[in-house]
Amino acid sequence: MAIWGHTADGTAVPIYTLTSGQVEVRVMAWGAKLVSVRTPDRTGKVADIVLGYNSLQDYLNDTKTYFGSVVGRYGNRIAHGKFSLDGKTYQIPLNNGANALHGGPKGFDQYVWQSKEVPGGVEFTHVSPDGDMGFPGTLTAHVKYTLTGNTLRIDYSATTDKDTVLNLTNHAYYNLNGDDQGTVLNLKLQLDADKFTPIDSGLIPTGELAPVAGTPLDFRKPETIGARIDDANEQMKLAGGYDFNYVVNGAPGTLRPAATVVDPENGRKMTVETTQPGIQFYSGNFLDGTFTGRYGIKYTKHKGFCLETQVFPDSPNHPNFPSAELKPGQTFHSTTTITFSVVK
Ligand code: GLA
Repeated sequence: MAIWGHTADGTAVPIYTLTSGQVEVRVMAWGAKLVSVRTPDRTGKVADIVLGYNSLQDYLNDTKTYFGSVVGRYGNRIAHGKFSLDGKTYQIPLNNGANALHGGPKGFDQYVWQSKEVPGGVEFTHVSPDGDMGFPGTLTAHVKYTLTGNTLRIDYSATTDKDTVLNLTNHAYYNLNGDDQGTVLNLKLQLDADKFTPIDSGLIPTGELAPVAGTPLDFRKPETIGARIDDANEQMKLAGGYDFNYVVNGAPGTLRPAATVVDPENGRKMTVETTQPGIQFYSGNFLDGTFTGRYGIKYTKHKGFCLETQVFPDSPNHPNFPSAELKPGQTFHSTTTITFSVVK
């Protein structure tokens, strides 16, 4: 553990380095963020494969991209920031057009979490008070990062003192080429998902579960991310690329394959497994060069992709979606693992 810097109010921000197998991971207490992941390619050349910055100050200045962040209390969108629970209506402040995104204007990505070392890693804790960003109930959230061999495991858990809703995920942007090397359009992605949740023009789910078959959203077999990204498909046009919640095949609650990404040139591979019902595949469509990364390179469109394991967006307004509710006395648990390797 080291102190990486201080927030404007003087709070110290610890940063932790986890090393195991051939992987080095850094995580910090500001937003429980994944700061860096360094892995070798097939020739043994090590690179950073997560987008990020060299200094805490750069992270403090960027409240737009959510680089490496744990997002909450409700990751992804809630339509009009509004939902009802137990007959009461709640309003989250809007921060994405007509909608609330990633928990509202001051989400979990903008707090210094408490931290403690645990075997193989670190556990971060954040207490969100009753009424925080309009959400009911005091929510105590824990995010544990552990590294075993070449597998990074993220365990999320939470409890509440009133009925509430939650969606906790990690919003890291990966680029298997290396953080300083081009876009992600050359990478091959495979998603274990037969269905996705179609969206409207505000990127809010319509409530349907639609088959990916016959659309450019179909990644059941490995496909190059860039191959169909400019397709005239109506959903692709609405999202401006890939920005979709996929329904992960198999039973939520069991750790099962969700996604695999391979760099055909350098051999880097990552495999994502999750207990969550969904995964958001986002191709960095809104990166616009505003922010400059750790290698002095502007983060422009498609410089990174996100694979955010989650409950479906706007679940509180869709009774047919897996529930995002948590009640007093219950403990929410989810696990996501990311395994880094190389193909020959
Ligand atoms: C999520 C959303 C995207 C975008 C990013 C942040 O991944 O799905 O639409 O808002 O966050 O830029």
